[in-house]
Amino acid sequence: MVRDTAVLLDERRVFEPKDEILSRAHVKNWEKEIEKGKDLEKYWAEKAEQFEWFQKWDQVLDESNKPFYQWFVGGKINLAYNAVDRWIETEKRNQVAILYINERGEEKKITFYELYVQVNKLANALKNLGVKKGDTVSMYLPMCPELLISILACNKIGAVHSVVYSGLSVGAFVERMNDAKAKVLFTADGTYRRGKIIDLKAIADEAILQCPTIETIVVVNHTGKPIQISELSGREIFYERLVDGEPAYCEPEWMDSEDPLFILYTSGSTGKPKGVLHTTAGYMVGVATTLRDIFDIHENDLWWCTGDIGWITGHSYVIYGPLLLGTTTVVYEGAPDYPDPGVWWKIVEKYGVTKFYTAPTAIRHLMRFGTRYTNLYNLESLRILGTVGEPINPEAWMWYYKNVGKENCPIMDTWWQTETGMHLISPIPAASLKPGSATLPFPGIDADVVDEEGNSVPVGKGGYLVIKKPWPSMFRTLYKDEERFKDVYWNAFPGYIYKAGDMARKDEEGYFWIQGRSDDVLKIAGHRIGSAEVESAFVGHPAVAEAAVIGKSDPIKGEVIKAFIILREGYELKTQLIEDLKKHVRYELGPVAVLGEIVQVDKLPKTRSGKIMRRILRAQERGEDLGDTSTLEE
Ligand code: WT7
Repeated sequence: MVRDTAVLLDERRVFEPKDEILSRAHVKNWEKEIEKGKDLEKYWAEKAEQFEWFQKWDQVLDESNKPFYQWFVGGKINLAYNAVDRWIETEKRNQVAILYINERGEEKKITFYELYVQVNKLANALKNLGVKKGDTVSMYLPMCPELLISILACNKIGAVHSVVYSGLSVGAFVERMNDAKAKVLFTADGTYRRGKIIDLKAIADEAILQCPTIETIVVVNHTGKPIQISELSGREIFYERLVDGEPAYCEPEWMDSEDPLFILYTSGSTGKPKGVLHTTAGYMVGVATTLRDIFDIHENDLWWCTGDIGWITGHSYVIYGPLLLGTTTVVYEGAPDYPDPGVWWKIVEKYGVTKFYTAPTAIRHLMRFGTRYTNLYNLESLRILGTVGEPINPEAWMWYYKNVGKENCPIMDTWWQTETGMHLISPIPAASLKPGSATLPFPGIDADVVDEEGNSVPVGKGGYLVIKKPWPSMFRTLYKDEERFKDVYWNAFPGYIYKAGDMARKDEEGYFWIQGRSDDVLKIAGHRIGSAEVESAFVGHPAVAEAAVIGKSDPIKGEVIKAFIILREGYELKTQLIEDLKKHVRYELGPVAVLGEIVQVDKLPKTRSGKIMRRILRAQERGEDLGDTSTLEE
């Protein structure tokens, strides 16, 4: 989203930490903690001590082969062991680990012990299916307990998971599955969405026809609706049948710190999604530390991150962060406004949620209903709030602060990415807050704003957001595409500094104000989608000869798609075709690709070498100066 810079430059409000929050905070002195973080290796090594290691690391950070950094070299560890097994020897044994709730108001509570048994059984079952350390297992599942269990079962035996968001559709699914070469796929009969059941199995069935590597399809009977599986094919099996009779113990695999943990696809500037690869120990250290210190997690907390597990937010902060800290995590399946826009607040009241983390788009959506629903429920249990996914406008920040947090809860505006694995720029509860700013880099993180040459820009001036030193949960590469990894992220500026792909500016106090993407990536309701992906979906339709796509600002979703298309001979852009095109793009990419406007053109601005200049279209859209047009073809 492109932000109204005038509004931001004008934003002068500061919110100091309240005593009540400060007195219980793990980190009471922000400046001191940031100072401590400057001794990078010492800082992160201390954080790594919180886990049980089978074998301790020899070296904290290996920088000998930049940008292929390695963390906790020589260490042996197992994530599932640390997130689940280790708690059953403590007083947490019978504490709820997963609190699953859905839009029908149904709940399931799974204790750490129950989770332990289920993960072990499934881990053994996966082994029986022939899954070995290093193999890829995919999940196309709703927000349901089995999604967490299957992920943890992979960790237990060293398999690499690759989750496909259940809101993505056939085209996106096939591409991801075949790139990751998944052996096993977990899917379900359906997912609840606004009173309906979306038939995930039907989408998976269609996609699987094009996925030759999948040997077994495990079907979770989640909604209980009768479904057919073709057991005779020898490929499909019900989840329950699979785990039945398996032993309740599985020896955790001794994973090397740098063994791959998961692949998660995200969008870049080109049409091909990027397989972001995370490894084991550094990722664990990064997510557990940031969750603990930013959301100040304590024993009696009830943590709720509304993000979907199909995105990095859910990986890091619905599953891994909370379970590694031994905290109950709420897993909610449903929309924020169904059956009514009070559903989230009702859950906060009912269960006493203490820490709540969501996206600006959801806040802007719920804001439309004023205070009616936030006043209907008692939200006093809340202590700390958070946002993620896109810049939050000060107006939405203030609404959230006043009406949800009742002016008692600080808001953690966390900036990070699929690639970073963990929060990189964010306040902590001891921070002074400014609405709309993600404030300062987390301790141990060296962030800056630079110009085209990589030089720091002066205060107040916009530039490229970069990270100058490695951090433990950084992605290690793009799956099977090291060249792209180096090119996109590390070769833009000299000296191996990480180019994040965002524009930002810093104010007098060093606070970061993120301004939006610097590349052709759109942020629709916080979801990341590449212009080129949408364009290629468009040209896959027989009526479309060429397409160019840009983001168009939207008061709730931040951005929606504006498409400029050139039609083939014989087609006209009438209502029917518009509907067809919408359906087609949705079929290829899923409901995340929200089309705002389709306009027909006879020409697209291109460079002489034929590349579409989306920049020109964007400038036109915003009524801005076209900038340098010297490369524009006549
Ligand atoms: C992009 C990363 C990180 C989890 C969800 C998104 C934008 C993210 C913020 C924030 C301003 C933000 C950036 C970033 N973004 N958080 N607090 N303020 N912008 O992960 O899908 O990898 O997207 O989201 O543009 O580059 P992602």
